[in-house]
Amino acid sequence: MSEIVTLQTYLERWAGGAPAKTAVAEAVRAIAAAGVGIADLVARGPLEESLAKIRGAEANAGGDTQKELDVVAEERILAALKPTPVAFLASEESEALIPVNPAGRLVVAVDPLDGSSNIDTNVSVGTIYSILPYDAGNHADPKDAVMRPGRDQVAAGFLAYGPATVLVATFGAGTQVFVHDRESGDFLLARAGVEIPAETKEYGVNQSNVRHWDAPMTRYIEDCLAGKEGPRGKDFNMRWVGSMVADAFRIFTRGGVYLYPGDKRKGYESGRLRLIYEANPVAFLTEQAGGGATDGKTRILDITPHHIHQRIPLVFGSKAEVETIAAYY
Ligand code: AHG
Ligand code: MN
Ligand code: MN
Repeated sequence: MSEIVTLQTYLERWAGGAPAKTAVAEAVRAIAAAGVGIADLVARGPLEESLAKIRGAEANAGGDTQKELDVVAEERILAALKPTPVAFLASEESEALIPVNPAGRLVVAVDPLDGSSNIDTNVSVGTIYSILPYDAGNHADPKDAVMRPGRDQVAAGFLAYGPATVLVATFGAGTQVFVHDRESGDFLLARAGVEIPAETKEYGVNQSNVRHWDAPMTRYIEDCLAGKEGPRGKDFNMRWVGSMVADAFRIFTRGGVYLYPGDKRKGYESGRLRLIYEANPVAFLTEQAGGGATDGKTRILDITPHHIHQRIPLVFGSKAEVETIAAYY
């Protein structure tokens, strides 16, 4: 029988006692622990109906309405990170950076609850995180620490609260899948060194936006729809959950591409996904699993952000298909 590796053991082995890595390990352990609590809340479903309620008339920092669970998830993550070496938290739900631990040496950026529109529908939602180094001496404004291209991330991952609560994590040496074991309470390593198949016949996109898309995007989807008889010479399948974490997990499992392009709607010029706490962590995980991630023209991990809550067109998944899509652009 193969060895059972808990998240704790994995983190200890990876860190090997090195202080900088141990700090990252502590942050990831805290986020995973907060995730278990959030998963419990999500699992109460309609018994906890108020979690899907919109908070007042308020919109969050990115201009979306805020649901009760968006805010509760952020509170849980913040509380979990307090005793860890994390100096600041950047979050979808907060306009400015939140101070965490003055002695911290890391910054964490999170989408506390991804897939808010699915909260009350018994469909997977999740939490996405990105971890960057922080050096008080170097970063005059703590914001400078998060305004870094994604290639500077030291770790990234997401939790998906579905039939299983999973943690997909990278520390820059491959992408690993951990599953929360309800019996022991531990996260157990289920898949090490995930590899996304390079080729695929499956794409995920919100096709109701077709009339708003630009020409390359429309052409790509038309060619997929043309199937075997079309220029792609193969029949495609479409899968779209509407929670990026769930769509990403499917892609890490069997390949595929996820697309959220920019479109002509006001506020969607750069798509919907946020660069720092959605696109960057998913791009890091994807590349570490042999896949690709682009905004159509530029590798996601090479983009320097100009705003904490900036949006970015996002295409990620099977490498050859991502390259094909980039060629349409
Ligand atoms: P969030 O719930 O954090 O705002 O993110 C939702 C994202 C992503 O999870 C999903 O794939 C996409 O928005 C869905 O957008 P549409 O509702 O426009 O299809
Ligand atoms: Mn999200
Ligand atoms: Mn969110």
